[in-house]
Amino acid sequence: MRVLSGIQPSGRLHIGNYFGAMRQHIQMQQGNDCFFFIADYHALTSGPSPKEIAEFTLNVAMDYIALGLDTDKTVFWRQSDVPEVTELTWLLSCVTPMGLLHRCTSYKDKVAQGISPNHGLFAYPVLQAADILIYKSDVVPVGADQKQHIEMTRDIAGYFNNTYGEVFVLPRDYIIESVAVVPGIDGRKMSKSYGNTIEMFEPEKNIKNKVMKIVTDSTPMESPKDPDKCNVFALLKLFASAGEITQWEERYRKGGTGYGEAKKRLAELIVEYFSPFRQKRTELENNPDYVRELLAKGAQRARAVADVTLEQARKAVGLGKYYGR
Ligand code: TRP
Repeated sequence: MRVLSGIQPSGRLHIGNYFGAMRQHIQMQQGNDCFFFIADYHALTSGPSPKEIAEFTLNVAMDYIALGLDTDKTVFWRQSDVPEVTELTWLLSCVTPMGLLHRCTSYKDKVAQGISPNHGLFAYPVLQAADILIYKSDVVPVGADQKQHIEMTRDIAGYFNNTYGEVFVLPRDYIIESVAVVPGIDGRKMSKSYGNTIEMFEPEKNIKNKVMKIVTDSTPMESPKDPDKCNVFALLKLFASAGEITQWEERYRKGGTGYGEAKKRLAELIVEYFSPFRQKRTELENNPDYVRELLAKGAQRARAVADVTLEQARKAVGLGKYYGR
């Protein structure tokens, strides 16, 4: 099965990215034909500086590889190294009804968040459809917020196939549900745009400071506490063993345990969890050219697939050398 997903380089990656996507991507390498890429064209829609986009892209690559992405097995590249995808975006744009894009909720959400509504942001789902379709992906593992984009991809593929003949495979989503929402330090969903993230590879000291700042209620130390309403407990559940989770749950309910103690333990667990990957991350940081080389090799492999599909699409619509044959 061809599995494809993309991640935007819109900042340093955090624990929410890890549990919401990366961990599953890395696991899916087992037994699938995986294509994962860094969606830098998509990131441009929210206006990063040239320096930021380059830096974030390299950092996403280093994070993924440090966490276990195997670049021999998986095709891993930077989206903009395969510019064919933008040509396919155009061909798809011409069968995409405006109404479909107007119904897209992520566009409205982003504008509500204050991102300026440029055309790229509006057309974002068509570029995403091109990403998925150009590699003939069967399955797209994404967070629940991306479900509508995958539905739109199927719609767009359907319009194209109905108009010009069967070129595209209709993909299905695979919604990563194991961790519904990873709370950030203010209790809202962990997200770069809320400034409430804990990054996987930031210095240990920062991780500790941030964990100590996680918002909790004002239940006094002696009183029983509801673990299911506590942001610290929600994060502990991701990192602690099953046995330890049960213990914390009991201690919360019984009372006599302060949030401070739970936070200290959480910070320890986060640092421990990522420490095996930290060394690899440091090696990669010291050798950015090696990382760039891996991405370039990935791009070659991706491009070989993209070229074939793009030619099929050009031919189907009657462009170029195919006309009249
Ligand atoms: N829109 C996705 C996100 O923000 C990123 C993305 C771009 C993507 N192209 C993709 C995801 C193709 C899956 C498949 O998370």
